[in-house]
Amino acid sequence: MKAKGKVIFFGEHAVVYGYTALSIPINLSTNVNIKKNDNLVIELKNLNKKLGFEEAKKDNDFRYIIKAIELLKVKEPFFLSVSSELPVSCGLGSSASVVVATIRALSKFFNLNLPKEEIAKLSHRVEREVQGKASITDTYTISYERALKIRNNEFSFIDEFEKTVREEKLYIAYVEEREMKTADLIKVVSEKEEKEEIFKEIEEITREALSSDVERIKELMLENHKLLDKLGVSTKGLNRVVRLAKKFGCGAKLTGAGGGGCVIILGDLNEEEKELIEKIVKSLYLA
Ligand code: PMV
Repeated sequence: MKAKGKVIFFGEHAVVYGYTALSIPINLSTNVNIKKNDNLVIELKNLNKKLGFEEAKKDNDFRYIIKAIELLKVKEPFFLSVSSELPVSCGLGSSASVVVATIRALSKFFNLNLPKEEIAKLSHRVEREVQGKASITDTYTISYERALKIRNNEFSFIDEFEKTVREEKLYIAYVEEREMKTADLIKVVSEKEEKEEIFKEIEEITREALSSDVERIKELMLENHKLLDKLGVSTKGLNRVVRLAKKFGCGAKLTGAGGGGCVIILGDLNEEEKELIEKIVKSLYLA
């Protein structure tokens, strides 16, 4: 069973303070396959690891999957294999994607017929229990496979916004590894004196984006990026990619917590432009 990844289009960081964020699912996915086996064995193909349940419990790389299996209280053994197109720890929801794909696969294999609502709830619970704290953004966007408006951990569907964004190509540039964790970046922001004014500006941009056409959305992405830079969560590398994408007529901004990671680029890039961006990033995906 597959599960997609996600990007935050507008409003990251501000959402932590009760403002609005918009997220959309992306076409890079995790695949989980389950088949009958005499013992419970888990394979992480990307990491070239294959362990029995008891061994896997001691390895951090398996903790989301272990927690999902434990929560579903499934009894019979099986062989579960995970592979993913999503780069890890860069704001694309790779952990949530693994959790949702695992729960979907278990639900199918054991005929549990879990509805989407239940998969979203269970996935969020897994993230919370593993991480200690987690917003619903990743698990809900990925479980429902729909764009969401999120505010105070409540959500509503924004299909029109997703349709508008999807009129153009969406690229994800994985620029560089993150130097800091999400929690540390949230702390950087909390220490910014002018954060409330910046959040208010981000909120205006986010609200305007919801009812804008795609050309205006591109401009608003650039504005949101500037404000994230002001908050102290951008990097030279991210700014360089955003500048280049802007020069090519696209909308662009960092996505997620920042401190490295990914830039989303909205608009058409010709071969030459793609090559120029590819030269300064780790990878460029069409999502
Ligand atoms: O980069 P990510 O996927 O960890 O996103 C973080 C987004 C924040 O707004 C900074 C935090 C949050 O929980 O919404």
